Amino acid sequence: MKNLLFAIAAFFLLSSDNSLAMTPNSKFLKTSIIPEPVKVVSGDSSFEINDNTLIVARDADQLKSAAFLNSYLSRYYEFNLKVVAEKPKNKSKKQKTLQYINLAITDIAYSHAGFSPSDLKREGAYSVSIKNGTANLSGSNPQGLFYAVQTFIQLLPTSKPVSVLNSKSATLPVQAIEVVDYPRFMYRGMHLDVVRHIYSVEYIKKYIDYLALHKMNYFHWHLTDDQAWRMESMKYPKLNEIGSWRAGTIIGIFPGTGVDNTRYGGFYTIDQMKEIVKYAAERYITVVPEIDVPGHSMAIIASYPQYSTTPDIPKQPAITWGIFNRQNNVLAPSEEVFTFLKDVFDELMDVFPGPYIHIGADECSKKWWKESPETQNFMKRYGLKDEDELQSYFVKRIAAVVTARGRQMVGWDEIMEGGLVDGAIVMSWRDAEHGWKAAAMGHKAILTPILRSYFNIAQKHNEDSLCHKNWYVPVDSVYLFEPLPESVSESASANILGGQGCMWTEYFSNVKALEYGVFPRLSAIAEVYWSQRRHKNWPKFQLKLIDQFNRYDMWGTNYSTEVFKSGGYSR
Ligand code: ACM
Repeated sequence: MKNLLFAIAAFFLLSSDNSLAMTPNSKFLKTSIIPEPVKVVSGDSSFEINDNTLIVARDADQLKSAAFLNSYLSRYYEFNLKVVAEKPKNKSKKQKTLQYINLAITDIAYSHAGFSPSDLKREGAYSVSIKNGTANLSGSNPQGLFYAVQTFIQLLPTSKPVSVLNSKSATLPVQAIEVVDYPRFMYRGMHLDVVRHIYSVEYIKKYIDYLALHKMNYFHWHLTDDQAWRMESMKYPKLNEIGSWRAGTIIGIFPGTGVDNTRYGGFYTIDQMKEIVKYAAERYITVVPEIDVPGHSMAIIASYPQYSTTPDIPKQPAITWGIFNRQNNVLAPSEEVFTFLKDVFDELMDVFPGPYIHIGADECSKKWWKESPETQNFMKRYGLKDEDELQSYFVKRIAAVVTARGRQMVGWDEIMEGGLVDGAIVMSWRDAEHGWKAAAMGHKAILTPILRSYFNIAQKHNEDSLCHKNWYVPVDSVYLFEPLPESVSESASANILGGQGCMWTEYFSNVKALEYGVFPRLSAIAEVYWSQRRHKNWPKFQLKLIDQFNRYDMWGTNYSTEVFKSGGYSR
């Protein structure tokens, strides 16, 4: 059924753009590389992986890429290639027919028009050249080599060939090609909320693999919120004893039809988080961990009620979703709370070595500060004229902790309210405009505008099982977003680090549901932040999705086919 659907979709798409060649390799296009590279030239010579094919890798960085390639070949095609440090010098008769996958970290030499030497030196620049029985995969640096491997992987068949299924004389045809490529943006990320629903360490590794396969380089890990605190804390054990568990979960869409009364929770140990950091780093992915304060803090004040503006009212981690105006979920400003924040951000930075530390700061309900005489006194004492300035004061105090350790603070775009702290990076989620505005003011910004980048939002009208009934974020809305429109000046554009997709998990309680939300929108957003503007092509991307869906099938991941059912939602 799915294949028929794709064939029909492809027929219509091809009739509108018949310049796209049909070949037997990938039914509709010669190659279907996502994200689209800068330069692709299809070659004629053939390359076939067989059991004797050698991977040549010389140093630790090259071995890292070789290991990823081998694990992919083994997981999906049952090949396990030998890795050697050098090509054999005196080839025996048998060896003369050997094919090599040669990995190298070297300057990318390419003299064609349109390539400046600085583009080819960019972090992540790479080339793939397949000719004369050798696949040369080169990166201008180790990360670039890793991306060359990702492109090579996408030249492999999108399903197991018959010869592999028969396995006797198994061969894997690879499209001969020349690719030269580099990323448009330096920050290409994907977020995961593990608070509303928790995901296993094993699954998070798989999620990170999906990011790597899309040449993404940041994993934003949302670790705390009203419903739970999910990071092990040595200094504040109640965060785990109390704060990591909720007494139940609402049934249905907020405000729900009841509560299931099933205790739900857990947390990641320090060792597990370090394991994720290492796993991600091996894939050139940096983890951006988030502790969300001073709002979204119900799990903290359930564990330590004295940190709230209403210490005498009993509290528990939230069992429902939404922003809380009826239940207190904010931290009170006090030296005791600032000491707590210093301690937990220090614990966070002990585990996560990356340059970016996310402090949340979104959707802080100011009502609780307005109603608290102690908070109002604090504001008077520190000369803070309103609650926006208090929010900014919180951010400043945490920024000092983060920058003292040489890191940069990231916050949701509400950190602009009450004055932006020097050096803070704005993650623009309510729209892109906040990010563009911050960039024009000289701040760095990361874009994740909700109606273009939130993969928890429905992909079709009336997808009532998901939140925000009247919103939807179809694949084309993700794909067609332009991060740097003409209205953004050149100097502001230079401050846009890139962007990310977000996956909030209120309504995604298991892997199957999660992946339905993520795919294929992850593939679309990968192209938004990697590919050059001139190479983005929505009809071609849809054709590439046909192969990509076959890859998803091979990976065993779930995905939505809505993009082909509804004929697209171009706007
Ligand atoms: C957010 O979605 N509240 C950042």
